[in-house]
Amino acid sequence: MPGSVSSDVAGTTTHLAAQEVYESLTPASRALWERALGSLPGGNTRTTIFHDPYPVYVARGEGCRVWDADGVERIDFISNYTSLILGHCHPRVVDAVQRQATRLMSVAAPSELEIELAERIRERLPSVERIRFANSGTEATMLAFRAARAFTGRSKVAVFAGGYHGSHDYAASIPADPFTSPGAPGVPNAVAETVVVAPFDDVDGTLAALDPHADELAAVIVEPVLGSGGVHPASGEFLAFLRELTRDAGALLVFDEIISFRIGYHGAQGRFGIAPDLTTFGKVIGGGLPVGAFGGRADVMALFDPRVEGRITQGGTFNANPLTMAAGLATLDEMTPDRYEALEALALELKAKLESLFAEVGAPFSVTQAGSLFNVHAPDAATLAELHLTLLANGILSTPRGMGCLSVPMTSAEVDAFVEAVRLAL
Ligand SMILES: Cc1ncc(COP(=O)(O)O)c(C=O)c1O
Repeated sequence: MPGSVSSDVAGTTTHLAAQEVYESLTPASRALWERALGSLPGGNTRTTIFHDPYPVYVARGEGCRVWDADGVERIDFISNYTSLILGHCHPRVVDAVQRQATRLMSVAAPSELEIELAERIRERLPSVERIRFANSGTEATMLAFRAARAFTGRSKVAVFAGGYHGSHDYAASIPADPFTSPGAPGVPNAVAETVVVAPFDDVDGTLAALDPHADELAAVIVEPVLGSGGVHPASGEFLAFLRELTRDAGALLVFDEIISFRIGYHGAQGRFGIAPDLTTFGKVIGGGLPVGAFGGRADVMALFDPRVEGRITQGGTFNANPLTMAAGLATLDEMTPDRYEALEALALELKAKLESLFAEVGAPFSVTQAGSLFNVHAPDAATLAELHLTLLANGILSTPRGMGCLSVPMTSAEVDAFVEAVRLAL
């Protein structure tokens, strides 16, 4: 790791040491992954959770802790990529799901639960006048784009480099930097050509990128807090600028709050005091079960009204299924405003302790934070990957990119355990 090694060769040796320790602790995970290779490409069915040499297989979770296939315990600092804000198997959520499972799992009919969850979200976010459910965040952003296109009669969508909105063709087209053309293997040019990329949190750069397309823009989608892109909150000025730009251009402003909804009771839009036209949701609102949702202005969402000629059809065998709705309701009802405040206080404590550790050992690392989200930044991806393996070998489940989050069951003890594991890595 930087600070403790002086050459590439030494770095490689250290890296191997981290990997060796990891491999020595996880033989059952290795065996499962090798078995998975026979059925799944690369042994994998979710690209975002793969890492070298193979991922750890988790067998059980409780609160903020998980146990892997070898029985090794770790503190879960990613909570299924920020979804499980109450931690694993929270009694209220388990109870809600168990009761619902014995009553009705899914049915070709609406349920009262979907009305309740819709009402809970509307109570928190006044910009959401109407909402519809789906089964993933990917579907939510895809349908928000479609709504914006249908509403405006235009075809282009603007996205920000480094942003993440899921894995449909438009979202998969987003490059990591604003100077690379949109596109990805298998994405038709016709789709990639409708995606305009701008630099995140950069007013002048965004103006320059979007101005030539202003008359063709159906929507500008932005994560108010860049999630997978490193937990970078946008500035209030930038979001206010986007609000004005979209209004002037006749385009819709879409906030992707699939991650950032967890930063506060009123989501990121409450924090910034800016109302988008549409918002996309996922993760937390499903209480640990598959979910997505999109909502906003009643006149835009009216496009989905099944009574209307020329409506947008959004089927979905499991849309608003009662199990997910029950888990989501239990979660949101448990997440009172003081819970968000406590989580944020703990995240600030983690940030301060990490920053003083980095200063103490002179490590070129930094940490960003927003609400209960945080991201450790290292000079390069290889160093981050090594930190990740070392954390895994020292009782911490996090992500290869350094992103993490806190969950309600955590206390200062778990924060200290994280900081100590980072200290060991350094
Ligand atoms: C901001 C954001 N949008 C969309 C998605 C896609 O959601 P899903 O993985 O549920 O399809 C994610 C997933 O990480 C996300 O972070």
